[in-house]
Amino acid sequence: MSIGKQVTWGGRFNESPSDLMLRFSESVSFDFRLASYDVKVGKAHIKMLHQTNLMSTEEHESVDQALDKIADKIKKNEVHWNPALEDVHMNLEQLLTELTPHAAKLHTARSRNDLVATDMRLFFKEACDILIQKVKSTMQAILKIARANPEVIIPGYTHLQRAQPVYIGHHLLAYIEMLHRDWNRLLTVKDNANFSPLGSGAIAGSTLPINREMVAVELGFTDESGNPQITSNSMDAVSDRDLFMDFANACTTCAIHISRISEDIIIWNTTEFGFVKLPDAFTTGSSLMPQKKNPDSLELLRGKSARIQGNQQSLITMVKGLPLTYNRDLQEDKPAVFDSFDQLSICLEVLKGTMEGMEFNKEKCADAVKDPLLLATDLADYLVVHKVPFRDAHHIVGTLVSMAESTDTPLDQINNEEAAKIHPALKEGTWKCVFNLERAMKMRDKPGMPGNKPLALQLSKWDQILNNQ
Ligand code: ARG
Repeated sequence: MSIGKQVTWGGRFNESPSDLMLRFSESVSFDFRLASYDVKVGKAHIKMLHQTNLMSTEEHESVDQALDKIADKIKKNEVHWNPALEDVHMNLEQLLTELTPHAAKLHTARSRNDLVATDMRLFFKEACDILIQKVKSTMQAILKIARANPEVIIPGYTHLQRAQPVYIGHHLLAYIEMLHRDWNRLLTVKDNANFSPLGSGAIAGSTLPINREMVAVELGFTDESGNPQITSNSMDAVSDRDLFMDFANACTTCAIHISRISEDIIIWNTTEFGFVKLPDAFTTGSSLMPQKKNPDSLELLRGKSARIQGNQQSLITMVKGLPLTYNRDLQEDKPAVFDSFDQLSICLEVLKGTMEGMEFNKEKCADAVKDPLLLATDLADYLVVHKVPFRDAHHIVGTLVSMAESTDTPLDQINNEEAAKIHPALKEGTWKCVFNLERAMKMRDKPGMPGNKPLALQLSKWDQILNNQ
């Protein structure tokens, strides 16, 4: 790495930084990703400098054209990033200087502190949009399998013990609810990112007659009516990393949802459960055991959530003890954010792909849901309808279950005489009507329940949201 005298801040220095320091402190190896935003911000900034007479028309045109050339090079991946120039901002300024002498005016009334904050806000707005689209496609894939399996019922679990029957559609729509909250969380981050910090300078703004609102409009930091939105405190604007933490948190929560969904499917995919068959495209084999087909995509999704969570942890720890305002520690904010974005993007795609190729084994599901114990609560409700207080009903059915267990008889096969000994309401035998899945599902008909009616309503609601927007 060659050490050139720092053109940007080298004035007060007699010696250049050591090679080791350059290697240690450079950030262009990761913040090069901000290059296109940096150029966009540069173009808006010089337009404003021109309008406020801080740049002549000739100077503005020359720098503007040079920035366009650089934008083109960035698009074609032709820029050679020099770590000796520290970061993307100084690399671009150097490039510009090679193209036009008027580049020397670019950084008027601007600091890398407000610049990097602005670049990152543009990044967050775009990143949230991209992730929201991916969340939405994953939800669409989940909705599709829910709709393709309308009659499949499985046991729902608590404590990983069979609890009550649910339509698989209801279970899958739970995932859609989780992802929809992620969508909203990302939308909030996007809205909060929509304020321009440019003009905050290094910490205390500028004495020059700049126009912050104009730059904000130019860069799209506007409300629905097109009014500029700018940050209100220069010190906060250059040191605030809430968006970084909020974005990382939104990514973490989404990744945790993905991890929990993956865990469900991993369990369903075991030979012991056998509820689903996973697509070959998202599973892998064992190098030793020829029979194996492992749910690696889902295991990696679970694993990646730890990494994404780690990124959030890095950010909150980094920020917690920092005095106002900018401290160089903050340069380390970007790898965590970029990694969370990249990893969550691919996780969403992989979950979608796995879901799209997943098939339910209807026989296995039907087998599991045959267990009459799943309807023990329905029997307690039956007794409640027959005027037995719920706590007593719970106890009666508990005793019946215990009898079933000790006599090795399925709950729905217990003889009526025996049952009547526990409670007279069990005498006539109509209590056995509860052991009917169709009845059980039909009766769970209030909003939010897994019954036929509310499920149909939810499916069409999500269809409206996801497929007709
Ligand atoms: N590369 C730096 C970062 O990402 C840019 C800001 C540098 N500011 C400074 N005062 N050294 O944080």
